Amino acid sequence: MALITGGGTGIGLAIGRALSEEGYNLVIASRSSENLARGAEHLRASGADVLEQPTDVRKPEQVRLLMDATRKRRGRLDVLVNNAAGNFVVRSEDLSPNGWRAVVGIVLDGTFFCSREAFPLLRESPNASILNIVASYAWMAGPGTAHSAAAKAGVLALTRSLAVEWAPHRIRVNALAPGPVRTEGTDRQLWTSPGLVESVTRGIPMGRFGTPEEIAEAARFLVSRRASYITGQVIAVDGGQWLGQGVMGLLDHAPTRRPAANE
Ligand code: NAP
Ligand code: COA
Repeated sequence: MALITGGGTGIGLAIGRALSEEGYNLVIASRSSENLARGAEHLRASGADVLEQPTDVRKPEQVRLLMDATRKRRGRLDVLVNNAAGNFVVRSEDLSPNGWRAVVGIVLDGTFFCSREAFPLLRESPNASILNIVASYAWMAGPGTAHSAAAKAGVLALTRSLAVEWAPHRIRVNALAPGPVRTEGTDRQLWTSPGLVESVTRGIPMGRFGTPEEIAEAARFLVSRRASYITGQVIAVDGGQWLGQGVMGLLDHAPTRRPAANE
């Protein structure tokens, strides 16, 4: 049984599809019943068993109801994917306390609340793991999205802390850092113009955005028994984006062959 927050849309939906192919039954949870219903329809069309539970991960009492429903209606939990997020581009000097709270609440509080409430169920699973979806600005810089960067950095610290704390309970805790991926949510909130998409693309060594399916492949691996000795790690799935392009386009000026000694 795998529970995916934000599992009705985008990357969360693709992860659900991949885990269902691996034989997991699914619980998907987010605020909007419409998002959940649409996502569940897609998943069922490819043969998945899906339980939808409307939940705001910022609300501890709703997260408790989510885990109660999972226990009552499905009886177990093996994988928790903390994928739900909110984001928007804003200059930090213009970010209101409520805007900060909204994003940090979803990303950091939500990840902790879900992990904490899932613990009693996960502890009973023979192959338990938590997968947190972060972004490379958890360890880089996130100008324009400082709220999200700070929250994701917190989630990365939580990933490592819980990995150690819950290792004796055989619960692995890892993170994935997707690079730029176009989803309905990010097209609305982040990749809002063709010019921006073009300039972001130029910064990716592999020269293109990723797909939700490429992120889901890494998720499929990290929660599987093939990753049974991996915990507390973060894998970037970003076409090399966070590594950067080096300085001053040096490669563009490199000779095509090494000059001979007498040249
Ligand atoms: P998305 O489709 O907008 O996913 C966000 C999901 O979070 C939605 O399903 C949304 O559903 C849910 N959500 C938002 N607030 C919530 C709340 N308070 N409680 C419960 N659920 C909530 O965007 P995405 O691109 O797939 O993003 C998925 C993950 O990948 C996020 O963690 C994001 O930070 C990460 N990521 C994405 C990119 C990218 O370029 N796409 C890059 C790096 C990292 P409701 O509206 O129904 O609540
Ligand atoms: N720029 C500046 N501030 C913004 C903003 C923007 N684009 N969007 C929202 N805010 C501020 C609001 O003004 C409000 O602050 P205020 O009360 O001081 O005015 C605060 O954020 C909360 O906004 P609200 O719309 O009430 O929050 P919400 O809890 O309903 O929604 C968000 C949360 C803001 C993160 C919303 O964008 C969302 O639901 N996102 C989910 C999908 C998503 O972001 N996908 C991309 C994932 S990477």
